Amino acid sequence: MSYPRLGVWFIGAKGGVATTATLGWAALKQGLVPPTALVSQLPQFASLDLIPWDYWTIGGHEIRQTTLVAEALRLAENRTFSKELVHACQEELEALEGNYRWGTLYQVGPTIQRLASQPCLQIRENAAEAFGRIREDLREFAQTHRLDHVVVVNVASTEPKPQLPTVPETWEQLHQQFQQPQCPWPASVIYAAAALELGYSYINFTPSLGSSLPSLDHLAQLRRTRHMGYDGKTGETLLKSVLAPMFAKRNLEVMSWVGHNIFGNMDGRVLDDPQNKQAKLTSKDRLIRHILGYAPQTLVSIEYIESLGDWKTAWDHIHFRGFLGVPMVMQFIWQGSDSLLAAPLVLDLVRFTERANRAGHVGRMEFLASFFKSPLGVEEHDFFEQFRMLHRWAQQVAQTAASQVPADSAPFAPQQHRS
Ligand SMILES: NC(=O)c1ccc[n+]([C@@H]2O[C@H](COP(=O)([O-])OP(=O)(O)OC[C@H]3O[C@@H](n4cnc5c(N)ncnc54)[C@H](O)[C@@H]3O)[C@@H](O)[C@H]2O)c1
Repeated sequence: MSYPRLGVWFIGAKGGVATTATLGWAALKQGLVPPTALVSQLPQFASLDLIPWDYWTIGGHEIRQTTLVAEALRLAENRTFSKELVHACQEELEALEGNYRWGTLYQVGPTIQRLASQPCLQIRENAAEAFGRIREDLREFAQTHRLDHVVVVNVASTEPKPQLPTVPETWEQLHQQFQQPQCPWPASVIYAAAALELGYSYINFTPSLGSSLPSLDHLAQLRRTRHMGYDGKTGETLLKSVLAPMFAKRNLEVMSWVGHNIFGNMDGRVLDDPQNKQAKLTSKDRLIRHILGYAPQTLVSIEYIESLGDWKTAWDHIHFRGFLGVPMVMQFIWQGSDSLLAAPLVLDLVRFTERANRAGHVGRMEFLASFFKSPLGVEEHDFFEQFRMLHRWAQQVAQTAASQVPADSAPFAPQQHRS
């Protein structure tokens, strides 16, 4: 069986999520770990003919000077996974080192700037120059590795919430704004534009703006490509989207829902800046009122507690009213490694997106809603309904493929990549 040659390009390529996803890919490729926690390995998706691990090449943009192995060992120190696993994958990880390029710091704010290494800080560029440079990096990656398609995944630090200027509706308008000296759009928008402009797929796993502007959906339509976001749903918010439908369907009245999150990784350090935190809080808070159909009092807090490292604890307190108007309480505590919760979802998103490319999907990939806290273009926040959307899409794609392709022929006809 033949598959396309796939490039996976991480923005924030040596952060906790990207490093864990890259290590996980290397370990899965070598058969060193079971596929636990991968949605794409569920039997429901077996007929989708998803791309195997050995057709992947990984690269990305980063603003810190470091290596994948050093970052993986740092995570291993924090008990995220074993050092033995890192050593077993060391060769694979080192072979990727030539595929990383300096990211852009355009409008990322002072807290993210402080993370950057000197060579990255020395790059002086306006939005148009950053856009051109990023696009060239992606194009070079595709050409060097003779890739058929690239899936770009944003797993960079959360940017501060920008003061939204006039939101451009079309790609031409946004492109014009890139040429202005004081262009307000941050790096995540520039990365998304560069990827989509080349006809590549784009996924935004962060609460930063990414491809959420209408003008970038317009660009995706123009280039016949696809995108989705935003903000991966990995822990506390995942539980909210599972539990809130239960309260709704039993007609229990939620009066208040309080969630406290504490953790100490680099993401937590960036989110400790109130400007950066605001983007995350908005994304975490909105789904309860959508699911319940009314707005109980809610509070979400995120605090940086350095000693916890990558191990996040979320404590939620749900105050609700039952029969005869009697108040009751549900509380839960969720503890997990942030990177280990996120990484398998990133691998799943890449596989489903690559399959959507083969199926010719254009525009937003609403069927991926179950992976996101704020799924673009989707009002449904009930996790199980969202999962049904994914399953239905998979059935349609598999049926179409079965009706079109003779059983003994290859599922993929290689395309020319743009140059
Ligand atoms: N469970 C989870 O971990 C989870 C869930 C949902 C969303 N997210 C989001 O995913 C993102 C990554 O999380 P993480 O824990 O890996 O964070 P991290 O801080 O470990 O990694 C972020 C990486 O991005 C790099 N970076 C920052 N700005 C950049 C830029 N402009 N260009 C290129 N690289 C840049 C940083 O140097 C760092 O290596 C965050 O935005 C986070 O909010 C994570």
